[in-house]
Amino acid sequence: MLDIQNLSVNYGPIQALKNISLRVDEGEIVALIGCNGAGKTTTLRTISGLLRPASGQVQFDGKDITREKPHEVVRRGLSHVPERRGIFANLTVHENLIVGAYTRKITEQGFDEVYGLFPILKERTKQVAGTLSGGEQQMLAISRALLAKPRLMLLDEPSLGLAPQITQSIFNTIRTINKSGTTVMLVEQNANAALKIADRAYVLEVGETVLSGSGSELLNNDEVRKAYLGE
Ligand SMILES: Nc1ncnc2c1ncn2[C@@H]1O[C@H](COP(=O)(O)OP(=O)(O)OP(=O)(O)O)[C@@H](O)[C@H]1O
Ligand SMILES: [Mg+2]
Repeated sequence: MLDIQNLSVNYGPIQALKNISLRVDEGEIVALIGCNGAGKTTTLRTISGLLRPASGQVQFDGKDITREKPHEVVRRGLSHVPERRGIFANLTVHENLIVGAYTRKITEQGFDEVYGLFPILKERTKQVAGTLSGGEQQMLAISRALLAKPRLMLLDEPSLGLAPQITQSIFNTIRTINKSGTTVMLVEQNANAALKIADRAYVLEVGETVLSGSGSELLNNDEVRKAYLGE
């Protein structure tokens, strides 16, 4: 579904991604794990059309989308839940959701789906989003992406700043979303949580993919255990 080939991205003189290649097949959850500054966010922003690569290609459904604009990429069925969630703090929960669905006509069914996944948001529709807890804000960011009815959802560090229990609950929901037919690419520093739900994963170190395998292979890999699971 998503095929990244030899992608390099620079910020001025800094080479943030060095020739990375990876793929996500339809129906999968694929994790990209790595430390601070590894290039995880850069990868997602390039896929979404927010950054222009120096070289390489991003294909979605066999089409080259490397030079497409972000709104064109969304229209193809790819939606991005950004790092730190990108919600509008001064808008209500309901208003944030409407913004998210801007490329599609919002249906009652769409709202029912997200409120079914996150019932707490239904109780908070009129609350200003900036006053939600971190976990609730993450739920809102995911809901907003879902209303665009993506085929592939890109998630940038959904566990950021969340307590372990809330992280667990968010990850369970990501699995539910995947089971109901949305392919997921997940970027995380929390390797443990990510590898547990991932079908496959890649390890990114200073702009290069150094390891890949199934989620369980990487969870049991000695190097990964030492470097990312604190063992
Ligand atoms: N706008 C920018 N200008 C210059 N350098 C940048 C910019 N954004 C990112 N970088 C650099 O590119 C590298 C990769 O950054 P990126 O944000 O992709 O890492 P990350 O893996 O998402 O890290 P984190 O886990 O901290 O979110 C880092 O060295 C970072 O300092
Ligand atoms: Mg990041």
